[in-house]
Amino acid sequence: MFKRLLGNRSKNAEKSVGVNSEQNLMEQLDLSKLPVHVAIIMDGNGRWAVRMGKPRSFGHRTGVKALRQVVELCVELKIRHLTVYAFSTENWKRPREEINVLMDLLVEYLYKEIDELCANNVKINPIGILSELPEKAREAVYAARERSRDNTGLVFNVALNYGGRAELVQAIREIAEKINGNQLRVEDIDGGVLAAHLYTAGQPDPDLLIRPSGDYRLSNFLLWQLAYTEFWMTDTMWPDFGKRDLLKAFLDFQSRERRFGGLIRN
Ligand code: IPE
Ligand code: IPE
Ligand code: MG
Repeated sequence: MFKRLLGNRSKNAEKSVGVNSEQNLMEQLDLSKLPVHVAIIMDGNGRWAVRMGKPRSFGHRTGVKALRQVVELCVELKIRHLTVYAFSTENWKRPREEINVLMDLLVEYLYKEIDELCANNVKINPIGILSELPEKAREAVYAARERSRDNTGLVFNVALNYGGRAELVQAIREIAEKINGNQLRVEDIDGGVLAAHLYTAGQPDPDLLIRPSGDYRLSNFLLWQLAYTEFWMTDTMWPDFGKRDLLKAFLDFQSRERRFGGLIRN
């Protein structure tokens, strides 16, 4: 089981005392106002490694540790949905060696973590054009999905070969096929029908989007689903991202006023 955070003093004094300690941040959190769905663009691995004079692959490997921390805290706080951007439809433009490292890390992560994820009732839901993944990655992804399919805890969407535009194109194609087959009428198409044909069908839209690494863009992530999502950006690079950053994001989220186009209620 994951370690309890409350009352668990870290070896690192900086992390365990002071206003920004996990303990302190945790105590400020209103557990009744947590985001239901958290989305994260796990960015900055390469730059983080290069700054340290290391190969980009070292950044990707360390980024996996950050992911582990984030999943742990989401489980602990009983967050319902977590969507992480792991590989985009545009990331194929990178050198073959880097793509191979990323795919190998994915396979390693899934095989190493699946027992613990299942012990914590996490349901792994890979999203993206999975059929185009290299065979080993595809097998690992399908196996993880199959093993965790009956889990009822955190829904862990892992975006792999994912692109928001590709997702919308696929949804529109499916809808068009249904119209062709007389299963649907043009006048019945609405936002609900479109959402039901996305990879995230049946899940609420993200409440909070986190992007580390100091870049301020969506990079083709969840284009439809992020319409009213609160954004939280940080200059921290993904390999340095930890539970304290996630807690800070949640605290900031709790101070936001979400209006969804309406007016403030007094
Ligand atoms: C995120 O880190 C990982 C993937 C996109 C797969 P990057 O590899 O994009 O790192 P930077 O943004 O170049 O620093
Ligand atoms: C977004 O990061 C994709 C993932 C984190 C998987 P990128 O590094 O690919 O995005 P850009 O190229 O900086 O927009
Ligand atoms: Mg990047």
